[in-house]
Amino acid sequence: MTSGTFISFEGGEGAGKSTQIRRLADRLKADGADVVLTREPGGSEGAEAIRDLLVNGAADRWSPITETLLMYASRRDHVERVIRPALDRGAVVLCDRFADSTRAYQGAGGDAPAALIAALEDHVLGGTIPHLTLVFDLPAEVGLARATARGGEARFESKGLAFHERLRAGYLEIARREPERCAVIDADADLDAVTAAVWDVVAARLGL
Ligand code: TMP
Repeated sequence: MTSGTFISFEGGEGAGKSTQIRRLADRLKADGADVVLTREPGGSEGAEAIRDLLVNGAADRWSPITETLLMYASRRDHVERVIRPALDRGAVVLCDRFADSTRAYQGAGGDAPAALIAALEDHVLGGTIPHLTLVFDLPAEVGLARATARGGEARFESKGLAFHERLRAGYLEIARREPERCAVIDADADLDAVTAAVWDVVAARLGL
């Protein structure tokens, strides 16, 4: 039986998730919580090795189906070695991206079949699903401009505006279909306003 709390942060490029997840971690830690801050692809030694394959190189290095399988190989290792043990001991796990990224990037943005992704979720996650998912939403061109200015790993950023518009729509569709799990955060607001919105949702939904 899981006694911990699992929160995932999702959204397109340049949405500010990483800043906000750190702020939430700091606040929860200050309140005395056992917080595990992690990310995908990656978060465990094996998953970080797979991440290197995924985020570097040419945009067409992997097909959407191959990418899906690599994401799920890394996700399984991360769930087995980091997320599940943390939840079992009662920690709050904050994960920068999780399964919805595959639905949005490889499914809505690419053309990996929804049935394949659903089957992987069923068989690979073993019920390890976030209690709350924050979907950071902003116009694709605003996020891409922020991500380009920041620099760094750029394989997914280089997939073009139409791809990023499809994935934004994919995320909003996930949130529309699963309103109990998901909350949409307006990420096109100033940093402190986004932090306040995140805290309001976390406090209201989870009572943390
Ligand atoms: P990051 O920049 O948020 O660390 O994520 C690395 C990239 O990996 C990002 O461009 C989104 C992409 N990604 C997927 O395409 N599918 C997935 O399932 C995950 C977790 C990430």
